[in-house]
Amino acid sequence: MSKFSFETDVIHGGFAPDKSNFFSVSAPITMSSTYKMADIGIPDLTNGTYIYSRLGNPTREALEKSIAKVENAKHGFAFASGMAAITACVQFLAKSGDHVICGDDVYGGTNWYFSNIAKQNGLNVEMLDLRDISGLTKKVNNKTKIVLFETVTNPLIKVNDVSTIAKAVHEINKDCLVIIDNTFLTPWNMRPLEHGADVVLHSATKYINGHSDCVCGLVATSNDSVRDALFGAQVYLGGVPSPFDSFLVSRGMKTLHLRMPRHYENALKIAKWLQTNEKIEKIWYPGLESHEGYEVLKKLSRTAGGLLTFTIKGSEEQARRFLQSTKLISLAVSLGGYESLAQHPYSMTHANVTEEHKKKIGITKNMIRLSVGLENVDDLINDIENAINIAVSDEHDMKKTITVPPVVEKCATAGN
Ligand SMILES: Cc1ncc(COP(=O)(O)O)c(C=O)c1O
Repeated sequence: MSKFSFETDVIHGGFAPDKSNFFSVSAPITMSSTYKMADIGIPDLTNGTYIYSRLGNPTREALEKSIAKVENAKHGFAFASGMAAITACVQFLAKSGDHVICGDDVYGGTNWYFSNIAKQNGLNVEMLDLRDISGLTKKVNNKTKIVLFETVTNPLIKVNDVSTIAKAVHEINKDCLVIIDNTFLTPWNMRPLEHGADVVLHSATKYINGHSDCVCGLVATSNDSVRDALFGAQVYLGGVPSPFDSFLVSRGMKTLHLRMPRHYENALKIAKWLQTNEKIEKIWYPGLESHEGYEVLKKLSRTAGGLLTFTIKGSEEQARRFLQSTKLISLAVSLGGYESLAQHPYSMTHANVTEEHKKKIGITKNMIRLSVGLENVDDLINDIENAINIAVSDEHDMKKTITVPPVVEKCATAGN
């Protein structure tokens, strides 16, 4: 347990100035791919143990120390993307024949990986709604190696009770690894390892970096065998971030505790405003008392975060008009940056999820997901109000549906 608070650890946790780095106050970007050895097979121990940058790099190590510190974990790992982190965990922590459970409302890429690649690799995969604890406990058995889920899901903003799930799983199988994708909440809001999870991971592309300028994944754990496996994944799968991206994420992360409260305040105000707008059909935001996960999230997390989903009255056409009409809020996948973004889950982040699954979990064509940024909230509300009015009016001559060239379509479905 750190003797400092989150705010201090997030700033000082990864790096300290000393002689070996010329007393630099910020971690230098060490671009070298390789390091001079002291003797055959022996690294120069006076300056660290670096051999080759896929195995370890000082800038990446500063980031890895930082995530371990803020997650209150023994070990931290950086990967080239959130997907690289997820696939490294599954590929190196489970083997052919193992049973793995994944939440049924996860990021589209994660869903696709479990539904296709993990199955091809011989894993016995089940996708479950993990709010149903008795349904989950009926499925966990001594062959279950991993239960992986998001704390707050996308786009339906379901809240999964990490403490209850981890306890229920471990009671049946203490060796089963409970792996949490905490991208949406971040360690500032909650630290899943403190609620009984074995591993926490993030798409650091999102809030942790916070500036929408690089792609990265982070993992933290206090389990030593998981540490060995993930180091193996870095070395043998090789999906590690560059020193420059490691530097960007370390830098972005230092203001996480300042950004997250503002994301929340803005999102809450927008959610409350949307509730009063008669053209809005339904809102999913766990900071509203009317949300079914409100009490669970309040127990686990400092705030409800900055993401919300709503449906606009009408059809896909109204959603498209809305998304074409915002001026400040960009129509784009991704989330967690300082700028507000809006997207259409049905055809963007979840395009690669089957129609049947979308129907089952309730992703509809008039649904819009907002990643609420750090702009002035009244400016954002004005932008949203204006776009809603255009979306439901027949008077505006909207851009016609654009015919998507196949290559673009392929990329769009891979977004988040
Ligand atoms: C919750 C969640 N997990 C994982 C990912 C994958 O992360 P990345 O895009 O950094 O590979 C995403 C991407 O949007 C996400 O939203």
